[in-house]
Amino acid sequence: MVKAWYMDDDSASDQRLEHHRNPPEYISIEELYKKTGVEYFKLNVDTYATDGVLQALKEKRGYTYEDEIVCSKECLPNYEEKIKSFYTEHLHTDEEIRFVVEGSGYFDVRDDAERWIRIAVYPGDMIVIPSGIYHRFTLDTNNYIRAKRFFIGEPVWKPYDRPADDMDCRKQYIEKQRRGFLVTAS
Ligand SMILES: [Fe+2]
Repeated sequence: MVKAWYMDDDSASDQRLEHHRNPPEYISIEELYKKTGVEYFKLNVDTYATDGVLQALKEKRGYTYEDEIVCSKECLPNYEEKIKSFYTEHLHTDEEIRFVVEGSGYFDVRDDAERWIRIAVYPGDMIVIPSGIYHRFTLDTNNYIRAKRFFIGEPVWKPYDRPADDMDCRKQYIEKQRRGFLVTAS
């Protein structure tokens, strides 16, 4: 099962470390959804291409665009710089959907009290980061991830760095969070 935890306040050491609190403070995936609206799906990484689960999910959610990205020292020029740019706190006007097929990494999201929650993703993990939530991504110490990206319609990957509090998607996110994600879940 996917693991998520509250991060420590150590921003000086490598972003690719676990950054657990002492003692570690985990959060369940149900609680993560309630606090942030982040959704999680477990797929079978060996059979997803043919077992119909991913296909059904794509149809239900209207994901018409799909591609695949690889992040590694070999694939990304200026790797160390690049992963720092992924780690800049930002939001998007649309959902960020990633399905990990190989390797691993961390998605960090802010909770309703501005605390960072770190979500560790491995092959078979599919994560949906809602539009308007402040978040960031980093590789872990394995320095390798291969993931599929999905999108409804023509993809828009543009990140808006924090502060972006005046954006409509941010205001809508805050309103959904205030009302409680369980009520507004589709
Ligand atoms: Fe993002």
